[in-house]
Amino acid sequence: MDYQSKTGALDKQRGNCLVVGVFEKRKLSTAAADVDKASGGALKAVIQAGGMDGRTGQTRIVYQPEGLGVRQVLMVGLGEKKKWNVNAFREAITAAVNSMNDAGVRDAVFALAPEFPAADDSIYLGVRHTVEAAEAAAYRFEETKSKKAPAQPLKKVSCWYPERGDKAAADRGIRHGHGIATGQQYARELGNLPANVCTPTYLGQQAKKMARTHGKKLTAKVLNETDMKRLKMGSLLSVAKGSDEPAKFIVMEYKGTTRKRRPHVLVGKGLTFDTGGISLKPAPGMDEMKFDMCGGAGVFGAVKAAAEMELPIHLVGLVPATENHINGKANKPGDVVTSMSGQTVEILNTDAEGRLILNDALTYARRYDPAAVIDIATLTGACVIALGKHASGLMSKHDDLAEELLAAGETSHDRAWRLPLWDDYQSQLDTNFADMANVGGKEAGTITAGCFLSRYTEGMRWAHVDVAGTAWISGGGPQKGATGRPVPLLSQYLINQA
Ligand code: BES
Ligand code: MN
Ligand code: ZN
Repeated sequence: MDYQSKTGALDKQRGNCLVVGVFEKRKLSTAAADVDKASGGALKAVIQAGGMDGRTGQTRIVYQPEGLGVRQVLMVGLGEKKKWNVNAFREAITAAVNSMNDAGVRDAVFALAPEFPAADDSIYLGVRHTVEAAEAAAYRFEETKSKKAPAQPLKKVSCWYPERGDKAAADRGIRHGHGIATGQQYARELGNLPANVCTPTYLGQQAKKMARTHGKKLTAKVLNETDMKRLKMGSLLSVAKGSDEPAKFIVMEYKGTTRKRRPHVLVGKGLTFDTGGISLKPAPGMDEMKFDMCGGAGVFGAVKAAAEMELPIHLVGLVPATENHINGKANKPGDVVTSMSGQTVEILNTDAEGRLILNDALTYARRYDPAAVIDIATLTGACVIALGKHASGLMSKHDDLAEELLAAGETSHDRAWRLPLWDDYQSQLDTNFADMANVGGKEAGTITAGCFLSRYTEGMRWAHVDVAGTAWISGGGPQKGATGRPVPLLSQYLINQA
């Protein structure tokens, strides 16, 4: 879709459709009230006829209104004004886009940004969330379908702002919204691809391809298993050797500034399929373990978003990519491996493989002397139990970094919730046979996974984001699929570093 910013009187706007908001109990937004006046009460007429009360996501089309330059007005419900929040705003945009696509609308002017519920920067954020939600609503996964759905009609979206002085904010909202949406969509697409297509090799090729399309600022390097042996990544390689699919260690580097700045390093779990290994997973729902590379996809998406937004930052993305599979060489419970850090690990459960590939990637991250390291992983089923699909699990010993990430989640509407990473939990990883075990028993499984990773990040400013519950919508419904989270959260964090 094409986006542009627009100002000027609402009754002079041209095009197929003008979108305005109505709050619950039939309260017109400021823009809606203006349009209503200009059209001689066409909007109030719909409301009075009982057609609309403003519940979130309700839509009504007013055809051929008098006194306006557009052919239709789409009224969209914004919910209760007192409870007005980003959730409702995004829901309203989604409903508007769906309803216009149904109605065959090709271009639309959204007059919703001024209503965006934020203390400041509301035009910037309102426009940005409009673009992000519109892109998300239009996304369809079709790569592996033989028949593609017909193209959706809505092609052009104008984001309206009332004050001339807000043009820069609106344009920035479009640029950032588009960059974030592009990154998020890329993450969704990679996540949704089946594991027989999206292999570690495929991910490596994607990194190279992305680097090619973004010119000099973005480079990609793909290490193979021989390189990993040389680096002594014994933990990652122990998982890799259980699969016939060759593992890759993907390194992406974005230099958006010539100033010498310590990079932010993102590390994403790129487990392209998790069978569980010898500690085999049960059959129901195992197909969803193709999504076990969504942390890695999130890193691809965040790197893409940063490049699209041309952020003046230095960013490194690391994605250890492998399958967790069962062949004659697969890890066995009780095996002890030596990680790149020199620390040894007793593998008590081969299904706790994510931490076995992340630890070596975290050790590799040290060479960048990073300003911060953030790892993203679909790491524990326990996180889904604790937080469900609404919040990602955040763990860090660095309060300032944790606060920054939580705030980024709020602003971007891609929220996380912090869990404690107290040393009290560390002893759950004790074993007689190695420096640590790879599992810590059934209590606090998300936290003990974080504790495991913390042993590889001593001295670095580090945070861990468990996206097991948020990276995809599970089950059999029409919503099933990758969400592209936490690309918005990471993008916001990176915007704040620029
Ligand atoms: N990829 C899974 C975690 C997962 C499971 C994410 C279900 C989303 C939904 C991870 O590799 C795993 O299997 N973790 C184990 C750890 C356990 C053995 C300590 C888990 O959560 O069961
Ligand atoms: Mn597993
Ligand atoms: Zn896994």
